[in-house]
Amino acid sequence: MIQTLAAPAAAPLYVELARSLEQLIEQGTLRPGHRLPSVRRMSLQRDVSISTVLQAYTLLENRGWIEARPQSGYYVRPRLPLDVPEPRMAKPMARPSYVGVNDLTAEVLALAFDPSYVPFGAACPDHSLFPTKKLARILAAVGRNDPALLGRYAMNWAYDPLAREIARRYLQAGCPLPHDELVVTCGCTEALNLALRAVTKPGDTVAIETPAYFGFLETIQSLGLKALEVPTDPRTGICLDATREALAHHEVKAVIVMPSFSNPLGSCMTDEKKARFYQILAEFDVPAIEDDVYGDLHFGERRPKPLKAWDTDGRVILCSSFGKTLAPSLRVGWCAPGRYLERVRRLKFTNTLGTPVVLQKTVSDFLRNGGYDHHLRSIRRAYHHQLHLFSQAILRHFPEGTRLSRPDGGFVLWIEMPARIDTLRLHREALQHRITTAPGALFSVKDRYRNCLRMNCGLPWTETIEAALRTLGGLAKAQA
Ligand SMILES: Cc1ncc(COP(=O)(O)O)c(C=O)c1O
Repeated sequence: MIQTLAAPAAAPLYVELARSLEQLIEQGTLRPGHRLPSVRRMSLQRDVSISTVLQAYTLLENRGWIEARPQSGYYVRPRLPLDVPEPRMAKPMARPSYVGVNDLTAEVLALAFDPSYVPFGAACPDHSLFPTKKLARILAAVGRNDPALLGRYAMNWAYDPLAREIARRYLQAGCPLPHDELVVTCGCTEALNLALRAVTKPGDTVAIETPAYFGFLETIQSLGLKALEVPTDPRTGICLDATREALAHHEVKAVIVMPSFSNPLGSCMTDEKKARFYQILAEFDVPAIEDDVYGDLHFGERRPKPLKAWDTDGRVILCSSFGKTLAPSLRVGWCAPGRYLERVRRLKFTNTLGTPVVLQKTVSDFLRNGGYDHHLRSIRRAYHHQLHLFSQAILRHFPEGTRLSRPDGGFVLWIEMPARIDTLRLHREALQHRITTAPGALFSVKDRYRNCLRMNCGLPWTETIEAALRTLGGLAKAQA
C-alpha cells in the first residue's frame, strides 16, 4: 500500500529530503508513531527552506509514510507487515452461466443504508467526506439564477460545459476524448446499463472479472445475459491468458472490466497490461465496457490511464461518474461509447430522456470554481489513511490466516478468511450487532467466495468503527 519514492538522479530538493526520511523510516530509525521534527526545526537541521520541508512532508503524507495530526505535528504512520498474504486468484469458470444472486443482494442492501447500522456493506463513503455544503450552495444558486432550467426537458445528451470539463480531465490523464461524444447519464449505473444493452441481446454472454461488483451481476441478470467469470489477480487485474482462453472458446459479446482499482479487489492493471489487454480485444473483435469509477482515487502520484486511452477503433465504452468522488446522490455519470455512440444515445433517450441539467450544471460549476482538485487530493488522502487503519485493525482482530488485498486506490478491501468461515452466516450474525457486511457470495455468479468479505473503508476512523471490527473479527473467530 505504501509506495517507494523513485527519485530521478537530479530530483528536486524536497524529493531528496523525502527520500532520505523514507530511508530512515524503512531502516527503523524513525519508528511508527514517532513524531517528526517540526517543519521549522527540520528546515534548520537540513539547511533547507520551510517550503521545501512542507513539500517533502506533504509528499510523504500523500504516499502514506507519515500523517499530520491537527495541532500536533507529523507522525510516522503505522505500517502493515509486508508479508501479509494477499487473497488468492480464483480458478477459471467452465462455461457461461445465468446469474442467480438477486435475492441475496437485495437482502444485503436492505439494511446497508440504515443509519443505525455500522455500514461495512455498501461501497459508499461517509457523507462527511463530500463537500456537501458547498454543493448545496451551488445547487441553490443554479436554481435561483436560472429557474427556467427546472421547466425544461434535458433533451440534449450532455450539458456542454460539463462535457468539456470531463473531457479536459481525461486529456490530463492521457486519454483524449471528444467532449461532444460523451453521453451524460444518471450515474455510472445507467452508463453501464446502456453500454451493455448497446452491445448485447438477451441470451448473449459477457465476460467479467471475478470477484465482480455485484451491480454488474444484477445488471447482467436483469438483461437476461450470461456471465463468464475470468480469474483476476488482486493486484494486477484480469488475467490475460484466461481472457484469451475465454474469448477463444466462447462467443463473448463484451468484456466488463475495471482496469483502475476494481471493486472489490482494488486491482490496477499496469499500462503495459492495458495495452496487451486491448490487443486481445482487437484480435477477437470484442468490445470492452470499462468501469472507471475509482480511477480518480489513486494514492500514487499519477492517475492511472483508462483502458480507453489505447482505444484506436472505438471498441471501448468508458463508463464512470462523480458518485465516489463528489456526490453520489446527484447521480451524474457519463459514458464515452466510441463506435456505439448513436446506439447509446438512443438507449439513453428511451431510458430517461436526459440527465437533469440542474444537476449537470451544479457539478459543472463545482468543477470549474469549487476547488475540485483540492477536494480530490484530500479525499484520496482520507481514503488511503482509512484503508491503512482498517487493514491494521482487521489483522489485529480477524482469525489467523486472514488474507488481505493491498489496493493503491479506492476505498474497499477484499478479505479472504480461512476456508471454514462462512461469511453469509457471519453477515447474519453481524446484523444482530447492528453491523452490515458484504459477504463474498455476492461477488460471484454462483456461490464462490463463501469465506470472503468486502469491506467498505470509506468511513472516517472512530472508536465505533474499531469496536465493530473487533466484534466482526470475534464472530469470525468463533466460527473458526
Ligand atoms: C464498481 C462500481 N461501479 C458503479 C457503481 C455505481 O456508481 P453510480 O453511483 O455512479 O451509479 C458502483 C457503486 O458502488 C461501483 O462500485
